[in-house]
Amino acid sequence: MTRSDALVLFGATGDLAFKKLFPALYELQAKGRLGVPVIGVALSEGDDDMLRARARASLEAHHRSAVDPAVLDALCGQLRYVQGDYLKDATYESLCATLGDAERPAHYLAIPPSLFPTVVKELAEHDLDTGARVIVEKPFGRDLDSARELNAAIGSVFAEDQVFRIDHYLGKETVENLLTFRFANSLFEPVWNRDHVASVQITMSEAFGVAGRGAFYDSVGAVRDVVQNHLLQIVCVLAMEPPAGGGADPLRDEKVKVLRAMRQVTADDVVFGQFDGYLDEDGVKPDSQVETYAALRLSIDSWRWSGVPWFVRTGKSMAGTALEAVVELKPTPTLLFAGESAPRPHPNLIRFRLGGVGGVSVSIEAKRPGRTFATKPIDLRVDFERSLGEPDDAYERLLDDILDGNQRRFARQDTVEEAWRVVEPLLGSSIPVYPYAPGTMGPNEAGRLLSTGLHWYDPA
Ligand code: BG6
Repeated sequence: MTRSDALVLFGATGDLAFKKLFPALYELQAKGRLGVPVIGVALSEGDDDMLRARARASLEAHHRSAVDPAVLDALCGQLRYVQGDYLKDATYESLCATLGDAERPAHYLAIPPSLFPTVVKELAEHDLDTGARVIVEKPFGRDLDSARELNAAIGSVFAEDQVFRIDHYLGKETVENLLTFRFANSLFEPVWNRDHVASVQITMSEAFGVAGRGAFYDSVGAVRDVVQNHLLQIVCVLAMEPPAGGGADPLRDEKVKVLRAMRQVTADDVVFGQFDGYLDEDGVKPDSQVETYAALRLSIDSWRWSGVPWFVRTGKSMAGTALEAVVELKPTPTLLFAGESAPRPHPNLIRFRLGGVGGVSVSIEAKRPGRTFATKPIDLRVDFERSLGEPDDAYERLLDDILDGNQRRFARQDTVEEAWRVVEPLLGSSIPVYPYAPGTMGPNEAGRLLSTGLHWYDPA
C-alpha cells in the first residue's frame, strides 16, 4: 500500500480538528511520521496563517504535555488553507491548485454527514478520487437505511478499500490490548466460552453531561452516539474467534460474524434513562425523550456464546468516567472441605480497564487467614501505563494508518450495517425513559435486565 501524499481536512476550522486532529498531527510530526502537506478546507474566512494560528491554539488547549516549538513550527509549515463553500466548484478548483503534484490525497470529511454525498461527488468531478482515500467519522447514518444510503453515496465514487470509517475506539491501545490478551495468552482462551463464562458486562460511564453539544446529542441519544458503534465494537473484540491471518479483512471478517450472530434487541432487553437537568441544557428540546443512559442485554447465538448474557450500559452525568469490561466466570461448587456452612466462593472476574490509564485485574479467591476455610476475593492487577509505557492517542494511530492505507482499525461497511440491524428496534421507539440523578449509575430499573444471581459491576 502506498502512503498518501497529502491530507485534506474538510471542516478544518471545526471542533473535531481543534480538539483531536491537530494534536494528533503534532504527534505524528514529532515522530517524523507526517511528511505530507495538510490542506484545511472550510467556509470560514481566512488564510494559511489563520489555520496555523488555530493549530497553535488547539495544541495549547488540548495537548497532553509540553509542546515543542520546533515541532509545532514544522507542523505549521505543512499547513495550507482553502476557503470555500463545500457545495461550490470553485472550492474544489482551489483545492486542486493547492494540492499541486499530489497524486494520492487522503480526504478527511470532518463535516456533517448530510454533506458527504455532495462532497464525494465533487471530489470525483474534479478527479480528486483517483488514488485517493476518504475518511468519515461515526455515527455512520442514523439507522440501517440511512447507513446504506450513505455507504451507497460514498461507494458510488470510492471502492471499499479507499474508505476509512473512523470509530476512534478502534484506535485505543486498551481496546487493541483485548486482542492480545485473548489470543496471545493460553491462560484464558480455554475458559472463554459458554461453559465457563457466566456473563460479560461493558460499562462506559461519563461523569460529564452533553458538554455544550446539546443540539447534536438530542438528535442522536446514547444508542446512536456510542452503543451502535463504540460499545458493539468492544463486544466484537471480546466475543470474536481468532482471525485466520494478518491484515485488515481476516480481523474484520471475525467481527462481522459476531454481529451476524447477535439477536436484534427488543424493548424487553433495554432500559433507557435521562439525567435530571438534561432538559435545561442548551439545544435540547424542552420535552425531549432522548436517552442519555442506555442499558442493553445482548444475546449472541454462536457456538461459543449461546446462552451467555452480554450487557452493555452507558450514560452521561454518571458517578464517574470509566470504560470497563467485566467477564464473570461461573463459580466453583461449594468447598466441601470447608464445612457445610461455608459460603460459596465468589466468581472469578476479569476486569479490563479500557479508559484513561488502562489495565486489567483478575479477581481470584484466596483463603482468608484464620482457622476456618473462608475465602476472600483478591485482585491480581496490572496498570498498562506503568508496565508498558504511555500509549499513542487513538487519533494519532488512526491518522497514521490512513496515510499508510491500513484498514485494520476501521469499521467495514458490513459491520456498520449489522450493528444498525441489532439496535434498529430501539430507534424512534416509545421505550420509557426513566429519570436518574446526576452522579449516580443510572436508573435502578436497569436491574431488571439481569437474570437471577447477576448484578452490575460498577467501575472499580
Ligand atoms: C464520542 C461520543 O464518539 O465518544 C461522545 O460522541 C463521547 O459522546 C466520546 O463522550 C467518548 O470518547 P472517549 O474516547 O472519551 O471515551
